[in-house]
Amino acid sequence: MIRLNESVDDKLRKRLMSYGTGDKNYWSFRGKAAREHAHSYLQYPAMMVPQMQRKLIEIIRELVPGIKSVYDPFVGSGTVLTESMLQGLDFRGQDINPLAVLICRTKRGPFFEKALREKTENLFKNIEADDSKDVDIDFRNIDKWFRPDIAGELSRIRKAIKREPAKWSRRFFWVALSETVRLSSNSRTSTFKLHIRPAGEIKTREISPIEIFKKIVYANHGKLSKIRKLLEANSFIKRDYFTGSVEILLADSTKALNSNGNGNGKNKFDLLVTSPPYGDNATTVPYGQYSYLPLQWIELSDIDEKIDDSYLSTTHAIDSISLGGLKKDALEDSDKIGKLSVTFSETIKSLQDEPRDRAVRVAAFCRDLNNCIDPILDTLKPDAYMIWTIGNRRVGKRSIPMDDILSELIAARGAKNILKFDREIPSKRMAVKNNFADTMRKESILVFKKGNY
Ligand SMILES: C[S@@+](CC[C@H](N)C(=O)[O-])C[C@H]1O[C@@H](n2cnc3c(N)ncnc32)[C@H](O)[C@@H]1O
Repeated sequence: MIRLNESVDDKLRKRLMSYGTGDKNYWSFRGKAAREHAHSYLQYPAMMVPQMQRKLIEIIRELVPGIKSVYDPFVGSGTVLTESMLQGLDFRGQDINPLAVLICRTKRGPFFEKALREKTENLFKNIEADDSKDVDIDFRNIDKWFRPDIAGELSRIRKAIKREPAKWSRRFFWVALSETVRLSSNSRTSTFKLHIRPAGEIKTREISPIEIFKKIVYANHGKLSKIRKLLEANSFIKRDYFTGSVEILLADSTKALNSNGNGNGKNKFDLLVTSPPYGDNATTVPYGQYSYLPLQWIELSDIDEKIDDSYLSTTHAIDSISLGGLKKDALEDSDKIGKLSVTFSETIKSLQDEPRDRAVRVAAFCRDLNNCIDPILDTLKPDAYMIWTIGNRRVGKRSIPMDDILSELIAARGAKNILKFDREIPSKRMAVKNNFADTMRKESILVFKKGNY
């Protein structure tokens, strides 16, 4: 039976549900989640599945006419950025982590393929011509994290990048250097945390950062070429630049943009697609700690003029300014959040008899997550649709229902809950290593519509 006057919201709900009914594993994208072209310039923790974000944006655009711009306030490595560009949409992404801002500012282009090839040859020549063993940077414990010969080679790369005159090209090379640092430091690559390798292994490892760097640069050339072709095929490139507008901001999403020193924040967006962290960085995914060593080797002013040394003052400086990083007065503030989310109140109550730190951690994270919601809604046009991906983390033995807490916090602002559905996370790595609820290996997709304000 055909229903007359079926609303867009109903159609959207039905369409999204239809994928899950035909194939209950549809949204897991098992075996179909390869990270191609710009999506794999650099490894970043907890990246979204590009194919899934692509499908979600496509479905919404089919049913809701006039969507021209996308906003991601937790942009990370820019999965949503690249998928939005591939659909010719304007974009704004924000992140508190300078490494995320670097990746995204590189991914947005320009796409000067030929110039990049020439600049690469020049860069490699300068690296070869430099026979110095001096180390170009210094920070606390540098000798713990880098063998002197490795630090010497990384310095030769760094010095050559600094000599490159064009910022867009330096950024492309800084991304490749970041990945080189990750692979050649004394920290294990099997975890996002800084975790020293055994002494014997450090001593005997045979690696050359320059060779690693070259391989990454060439591989990233190929990836740039591929994304460029895909954009060109849809006429989304003009004179080497993406045709839409892309803003990438180093910003704290708990704060309104004009209080972040990022202009007046007047631009409003048609669609939100995002995935916030699932808990405080220290006990879930330490994005900041992961970025600490790579950022030491990068000229920070090339990422953003606003960055100062405070971001790298300790290994956990970025994590402590990220969501849930500041624990002070968290439980004292929890009554206010409890009025917006009954699931939050119940969760805090259920933690009463456990070590106090557990409730504090959850309360601090939810306080910050709640503080994001008004600035985010303010950045969207009336009736804009929102797609939030979130998972439940574990505290002690308890699974914290972040999906319900976030849903209630958004609904408390008058937004309309269109649909929530779950997807299996095929990779075990996240759940096992990072305190996500064991039983889950799933995350939730929350689809909301902002009210007409
Ligand atoms: C789950 S990741 C996003 C991953 C991204 N969707 C991707 O595919 O790479 C969450 C991001 O939120 C960022 N973040 C944490 N606290 C933030 C804050 N207060 N303001 C802005 N970004 C924040 C983290 O640095 C991290 O990059």
